[in-house]
Amino acid sequence: MGRMPVRTVTAMIYIKQMSGGRTKPLLLACGDSQGSQEFIVKLTSRVDMGLKSLVAEFVAAGIARQAGLMTPETVLVEVLPDFVGTVTIPEDRVELQKSQGLNFGSLNLTPGYTTWLRNQALPSELRTLALQVFVFDALIENPDRRPEKPNLLGKADDLAVIDHELALGFDMALSRKDDPSKWYDFLKDHIFFSDARKRKTDVRQIAMDFIGSIDVESVIAELPTGWSLAAKDRLDKIRDHFKMVQGRATDVCDGLMRVLE
Ligand SMILES: Nc1ncnc2c1ncn2[C@@H]1O[C@H](COP(=O)(O)OP(=O)(O)O)[C@@H](O)[C@H]1O
Ligand SMILES: [Mg+2]
Repeated sequence: MGRMPVRTVTAMIYIKQMSGGRTKPLLLACGDSQGSQEFIVKLTSRVDMGLKSLVAEFVAAGIARQAGLMTPETVLVEVLPDFVGTVTIPEDRVELQKSQGLNFGSLNLTPGYTTWLRNQALPSELRTLALQVFVFDALIENPDRRPEKPNLLGKADDLAVIDHELALGFDMALSRKDDPSKWYDFLKDHIFFSDARKRKTDVRQIAMDFIGSIDVESVIAELPTGWSLAAKDRLDKIRDHFKMVQGRATDVCDGLMRVLE
């Protein structure tokens, strides 16, 4: 199956700042030769680790697609001086000024999907997808999909994963690396932890399937050169991580089973 290359779109109209988001992403209408669409845009200047954070967003979204999970289309959003000049909210204009060049955008999936709420009940039709999201977060080491911060979009028969800037932070070196029994402790806070606990066996099979479908190099190949250079450390650690995961799939499954005990 051929994948569409990542599009670069140009920021054209400021709509609003998204409420609730920690990194205050912007909803912008952006255009390319195919017309104009709305995107949620994370600015380089507003994420904790600049391009490293945006690389995590980009690579995690690519891996989600390889695993067959829904995630909004990723685009690169070019912010140009002419656009910055049209923005009247001072706070956002200043950040856009600092973020000229390429930023991370995701296609606005609302109103088809809605933001998952903190106490939203999981209907039985979404249980398998929820388990897949749980395993995906294990493999990308994403600590940021918790009941108080679901970072999911949902509709009747689908879940879409968003907000991965805190995932893939292997350059932030945590000691749990050495001890497989501690690899997945962070998942105890996951929004679907208790659900996954009820269906351990399936988790193992999902993990094996995902591990076989991930090709991180082909995602990295789509990054803009400037991002690859700026985040070289992080990318090298991401490559090492997936080599380890693919070489030690049984340890990964055992680690998952252990955290769900
Ligand atoms: N592609 C998208 N489509 C629709 N809504 C989105 C999309 N991306 C983000 N959002 C909404 O914006 C909010 C903030 O985005 P998020 O990526 O979680 O940023 P933050 O890192 O600041 O939490 C989300 O909780 C969600 O409600
Ligand atoms: Mg969020």
